[in-house]
Amino acid sequence: MAHFDDKAMPFGNKWMDERIGLNTLKRVLNTEYWIPKDINFLWAMGMVLAATFGILVVSGIFLLMYYKPDVNLAFDSVNYTIMSEVGYGWFWRHIHGVGASIVFLIIYIHMFTGIYYGSYKRGRELIWLSGMGLFVAFSAEAFSGYMLPWGQMSYWAGMVITNLFSGGSLEAYGLVEWIRGDYVPGDAYLTRFFMLHVLLIPLAIIGLIVLHFGTLRLPHVNNQEGADIDYKESAELWKAGKKKESKVIPFSPVFLSKDLFVMGVYFIIFFYLVFYNFEFSMDPVNFDPADGLKTPAHIYPEWYFLWSYEILRPFSKDIGLIAFGIAQIAFVFLPFADRSPNVAPAHKRGLFNIWFWVLLIDMIVLTAMGKLPPTDPVFAMIGLVSAVLFLAMGPLLVLITMFEKKIEKGA
Ligand code: HEM
Repeated sequence: MAHFDDKAMPFGNKWMDERIGLNTLKRVLNTEYWIPKDINFLWAMGMVLAATFGILVVSGIFLLMYYKPDVNLAFDSVNYTIMSEVGYGWFWRHIHGVGASIVFLIIYIHMFTGIYYGSYKRGRELIWLSGMGLFVAFSAEAFSGYMLPWGQMSYWAGMVITNLFSGGSLEAYGLVEWIRGDYVPGDAYLTRFFMLHVLLIPLAIIGLIVLHFGTLRLPHVNNQEGADIDYKESAELWKAGKKKESKVIPFSPVFLSKDLFVMGVYFIIFFYLVFYNFEFSMDPVNFDPADGLKTPAHIYPEWYFLWSYEILRPFSKDIGLIAFGIAQIAFVFLPFADRSPNVAPAHKRGLFNIWFWVLLIDMIVLTAMGKLPPTDPVFAMIGLVSAVLFLAMGPLLVLITMFEKKIEKGA
């Protein structure tokens, strides 16, 4: 039976410690959880993501108070009620819209940091895989959220993407009607996407974040040189006052203060966008209510889906669907496709460095081409070449990493 001090001041340090072990948590974070010293601001992106997810949840709860998941009411509940009738409704909507767009920029930076430094292999495979789970869940969350204002782009992007499941050979199974709950996107479609957006996917995301954090604990985060750190030895050095020689820093308060600084800068930019430049996160076509009889001249997804949309577009239905499917899951296989034993930054890995930059530029080109109408033959050709290149990058990675020379550590 634990000992409780009856004289302890309620909610004081001792009172709290006896009830929830506050001091144990403080001790672990201050003296038992170590972070490599040799990391830069890119390693703060994980916490930036967690904070942005928090902001999306809070702003989403405010929007939920006035949103109406009904095809006859949804558009007005967002564009009139929330935007002009409810006090500060616009503020929460701008936060939610900007947050939904920016979170993808940060996810891509976070992913490419991991790829650049080889943080997905040799003990860190599960961090990568749970991260990919988060990527897929965030994509589903963004897509389902995009349906909710029931504007022209919500309706027609929903139509195009669900039509993928009526593609070629799949038609026979009536899959697309099953997904929509109707022959075209309608009320059943809207309410099921509403449920996914506000309940099921957020729950999955919370679970995946817990898993992602759990997978980080044993292998620790990587560092700029990919050094294999002896945490015990380095922690002892720090505790003995030899901070210069130690390769680690305590999570709290040293690392936390760095993280909070980066987050501070991030939120200055974030709220600048919310107040002065929110338009980039809202498509003008979506300010027209959904009309099933009026197809927009050019249908495209939000910027963060453009690269995979462009991989789908140049091909015929069946091949396009397969190419799109491969693009969606390609990154899952990264830890196993990279055959090299080196955990090192790309600039030290020869051909891998070229592979990394080609991949990044290819995805930027695909994104740019995905936004353009498919009518210009030159741009269509650039799109096709970039799509084929993307699909070739996986086998190319296997090939070049098989022959990558082992880097001697300490050299
Ligand atoms: C969207 C929600 C996500 C959250 C909240 C999140 C959170 C974090 C945090 C806090 C860290 C530790 C600090 C850092 O390196 O930034 C981390 C590391 C990591 N994350 Fe994520 N992450 C998310 C998504 C992803 C995605 C989409 C991937 C890629 C598939 C990914 C892959 C990784 C990897 C490989 C590491 C280890 C980095 C290293 O060892 O240096 N994460 N994540």
